[in-house]
Amino acid sequence: MSALARILRFTRSLAPYYAGIMIAAAVVTAAGLAVPFITGAATDVVVDAVGAATRGEGVPTGAIRSVVLLALALLAASLVETVVSSFGGYWGDVMSAKMRTVLSARYFEKLLALPQRYYDNELTGTIVARLNRSISEVTNFMKSFSNMFVTMLMTTVAVLVISAWHYWPLAALLLVAYPAYLWLTALTSRKWQRLEGDKNEHVDIASGRFAEVVGQIRVVKSFARERSELDRFEHHFSETVELTRRQSQHWHTMDGLRRGVLNVIFFGLYVIIFVRTVTGEFTPGEMVMLIQLMAMARQPVTSLSWVVDSVQRAAAGSKSYFEVMDLDPEALDGGGSRSQAAPAAGTGDPEQPMVSFKDVHFGYGEDDDVIAGVSLDVFRGERIALVGESGGGKSTLVSLLMGLYTVRSGRIEVAGAGADLESLRRNIGVVFQDPSLFSGTIAENIAYGRPEATREEIRAVAKRAAVDEFVSRFPDGYDTVIGERGMKLSGGQKQRIAVARAMLKDAPILVLDEATSALDTKSERLVQAGLDELMHGRTSLIIAHRLSTIAEVDRIITLRDGRIDEVGTPSELAVSGGIYAELLALQHSTSKADRKRLKQFEVVG
Ligand SMILES: Nc1ncnc2c1ncn2[C@@H]1O[C@H](COP(=O)(O)OP(=O)(O)OP(=O)(O)O)[C@@H](O)[C@H]1O
Ligand SMILES: [Mg+2]
Repeated sequence: MSALARILRFTRSLAPYYAGIMIAAAVVTAAGLAVPFITGAATDVVVDAVGAATRGEGVPTGAIRSVVLLALALLAASLVETVVSSFGGYWGDVMSAKMRTVLSARYFEKLLALPQRYYDNELTGTIVARLNRSISEVTNFMKSFSNMFVTMLMTTVAVLVISAWHYWPLAALLLVAYPAYLWLTALTSRKWQRLEGDKNEHVDIASGRFAEVVGQIRVVKSFARERSELDRFEHHFSETVELTRRQSQHWHTMDGLRRGVLNVIFFGLYVIIFVRTVTGEFTPGEMVMLIQLMAMARQPVTSLSWVVDSVQRAAAGSKSYFEVMDLDPEALDGGGSRSQAAPAAGTGDPEQPMVSFKDVHFGYGEDDDVIAGVSLDVFRGERIALVGESGGGKSTLVSLLMGLYTVRSGRIEVAGAGADLESLRRNIGVVFQDPSLFSGTIAENIAYGRPEATREEIRAVAKRAAVDEFVSRFPDGYDTVIGERGMKLSGGQKQRIAVARAMLKDAPILVLDEATSALDTKSERLVQAGLDELMHGRTSLIIAHRLSTIAEVDRIITLRDGRIDEVGTPSELAVSGGIYAELLALQHSTSKADRKRLKQFEVVG
């Protein structure tokens, strides 16, 4: 029941709809309850009239008028039922739609607030599958529940009171029927839920993979893995068939049992009613009324058990929903600190570092540190390059700076940032190693960090990032839709849009993680010129494998095993014998022309 209480609390704003649906249901039930009384009364009038006729007394006065009036009363009852239940149905539909909106928006809001660590361990398709299942189960349940709850309560009470009024053993038998049926239902439900949970897990795994396969269909096709991906998908779903078999067998066995019990109890009820009518204790009218009432009595028994069953069903369905809602972002993050505003922020002191790593330790899991004690100050307007071997932790440093993860120990401070993470992030323009674009238009993607930017502003940065060059060849120009994650663009085009996006953000700190790695030398030069202009007066952190890109930074930091190995100007490190020198030497050895070009770059710079 606590799940139900939570759902109600979550959707408090829908209270007027619940109330409307319940009132409609109450009116419909009342109209329904009037029917046995009216037909009972009509039966008595008819029996009287038939008796009088057989005695040769003719039709009693007013008998016809009475039965016609009673028939009109039946008409009135069904008209009320029809009209009011339509209103109830309408409110139910609107309520479901609103509930879907509330629950989905809350879920999305929660997901958006969860740290990167959560996403590292989840599949997109699974997150979506869970959302859909939970929400439709909860919504369906609430709709039926608000429709059924009042009806059930009213019918139960009315049936018990009326039957007790006429003959108490009838009520006593019904009082045995209800709990027996409920108990058997609860018993059934538990196993049913467990199997349902197992089924859901298979569906979630299959959906997660499904979304991945669809998202990277190119790889699937190229490696000819369609067949095996399909087999895997089918395997999970056929597991659910086996589970459904067991689940359904169990359910139907138990359902047969509880219905059998109910039938025996109703057998007793009918015997009592028939015998007492024969012995003259009930009139035929009372008998008709009671028989109809007993038929109605079955309904709350079944719907009460339906409620028990579906509360548990909704509870199982909403379990993963509430599991996500209950996640504690702080706990997921392991408790360390994130990037934060420097204490002396806003003093404008030029000596104060813009970005400061203070003995930072970090690891993704419980395992070894990926970053093991990095201390680094980057001053205002300075250009810093990070060099290190692949997997050495360069991109990790970027993620840490953006506050995507908390550190194990140490601090990261960013001058000029406000107290919260959002303002910190507003201060940093970033180009990630993976361009990560959205499915909209090119203009939308460039303006992602500043949606209010004008077309002129977008064009201006697009020119600097050498985006304009290729966009002007598209028939739809900046309104070209680029497909999921920018699928319709080349790698280099995506990168240039990502650069333009960071440029438009116009933040005081610029972070470039392999921002031009997919570009040919000519395009890179173009973009580099734009970036050089942009970096003027900005604090910049640049990661690049291609050493020509970083030949003219102020300082190079080399990373080795998660630690800072060397710090120095490019010309210092070129002769120090460290990683940078090594990389340079490698580039030298591959071709002399490269070396020449590299030197040329330094001169041109
Ligand atoms: N989300 C993650 N979860 C767990 N481990 C990760 C995650 N991201 C990176 N790693 C690990 O952290 C280490 C550092 O990765 P990182 O991406 O920072 O390297 P990098 O220096 O940027 O490499 P490259 O030059 O290839 O881009 C790697 O060993 C990688 O396997
Ligand atoms: Mg990287």
